[in-house]
Amino acid sequence: MLIGSIINGIERNEQDRKAHDVKNPFNQEILGTLALATADDLNDAVNSSYEAYEKTMKQMPAYKRGDILRKAAQLVEERKEEFAQSIMAESGKPIQQSRTEVQRSVQLLRYAAEEAKNITGEVVPMDAAIGGENRMGFVKKKSLGVVGAITPFNFPLNLTLHKLAPAIAAGNTVVFKPAEKTPITGYKIVKLLHEAGLPESALNLVLGTGEEIGQPLVEHEKVAKISFTGSVPVGKGIQQSAGFKKLTLELGSNSPIIVFDDANIEDVAVSLVKGGFGYSGQTCISVQRIYAHKDIYDQLLEELIATTNNLKIGDPADESVDIGPMITEEAAKRTDEWIQKAVEEGAKAETGGERNGNIVPPTILTNVNKGMHVVKKEVFAPIISVIPFEQEEDAIAQANDTIYGLQGAVFTKNIDRALRVADQIESGGVWINESSTYRQDNYPYGGVKQSGIGREGVKYAVEEMLELKFIGIKLER
Ligand code: SIN
Repeated sequence: MLIGSIINGIERNEQDRKAHDVKNPFNQEILGTLALATADDLNDAVNSSYEAYEKTMKQMPAYKRGDILRKAAQLVEERKEEFAQSIMAESGKPIQQSRTEVQRSVQLLRYAAEEAKNITGEVVPMDAAIGGENRMGFVKKKSLGVVGAITPFNFPLNLTLHKLAPAIAAGNTVVFKPAEKTPITGYKIVKLLHEAGLPESALNLVLGTGEEIGQPLVEHEKVAKISFTGSVPVGKGIQQSAGFKKLTLELGSNSPIIVFDDANIEDVAVSLVKGGFGYSGQTCISVQRIYAHKDIYDQLLEELIATTNNLKIGDPADESVDIGPMITEEAAKRTDEWIQKAVEEGAKAETGGERNGNIVPPTILTNVNKGMHVVKKEVFAPIISVIPFEQEEDAIAQANDTIYGLQGAVFTKNIDRALRVADQIESGGVWINESSTYRQDNYPYGGVKQSGIGREGVKYAVEEMLELKFIGIKLER
């Protein structure tokens, strides 16, 4: 299957284009070949979205945008198994977890359909200022224009829709560049949105690398906003190149979890193993650093090890598999190197073992220190570290001793302590008695520090896809 960019509704998949194979990370089967976009294609895509904005989307009423998104939700639901198989095949995400991603995406589209009709403004109390008498003022929320959406490999459907659906709900048009490793699900969702009634030129798909396609998209003068999910270095590059465009950057993290001595340790272990090793840890909010109170440290470690040793590793297509491959062998090798380096520096691997191609067994490390890569950097891999603490303040200080801050967690039955600690963890979100990896698509999601700028979560992402316009009236009396 030769897959091309879709510009003005026409697929550009001629044979003479530079090609790139999309492979199943588990068995290396070729799932499709991309006919890559050129710089000219990118320019055509932006011009197409720009015209579609000026001529169509800018005037499209909210009820119609809502109808398109509701229809899209219905179509994804009807094809949910096709989407789940597509996610599983190109990302290596175990099939059960892929199905969860699709289910979340259906809900996300429904939230967006509702939000399209909830864009409001406000009246400004003009007479609050001296001289404001006999004036009226109000604020409208206006769409932006062309949004450049650049997505990562790890949630090829849900993180794509976190950009496309709010952009459409707000009345914008989109140029969408999916990750090179997992573009097929993105291609399918673009076609589905067109089928749901979105004007074809309001959503253009461009297939290519970050350097060849992502960079000119970020720099293009007709693009009003960039919404990007990915690594901190790429996010920093985008910030430097984007000029005055609006930005939403959802970047990495090394999520901290604090477990107190009154927590239900068996439940905590189940939650943290799922949160640390689901999709082989390739999630921005994956459980990474577990700070365990010294009185339950041994018990928690024992439970974590036992729960981890029960996980089934293998083919992500297998219904019973918990852990599949990492996205590439390169990613798996890097993970292995970080584990070996930590062990050489004094860490102990309590679980894990030999890497098999791009499958890395889930690895629990103890005796780590804050200078090690596995603690300090974002592992984005199936590695968790368990670290003892004595005092609450010390646990909080260690949790916050990082350049990241996306989502953290605290486990305790003491409500005062839970709220006190949650308030002090420096991150965009904190869960109490749930792992940091849990996410719903209707709450604000985004980072502090180097974990990013802005918020996703449909209602909040819609706000970021709009700008405020003030209109004032001087009244004649
Ligand atoms: C992410 O990796 O940032 C997305 C996590 C999620 O949506 O569950």
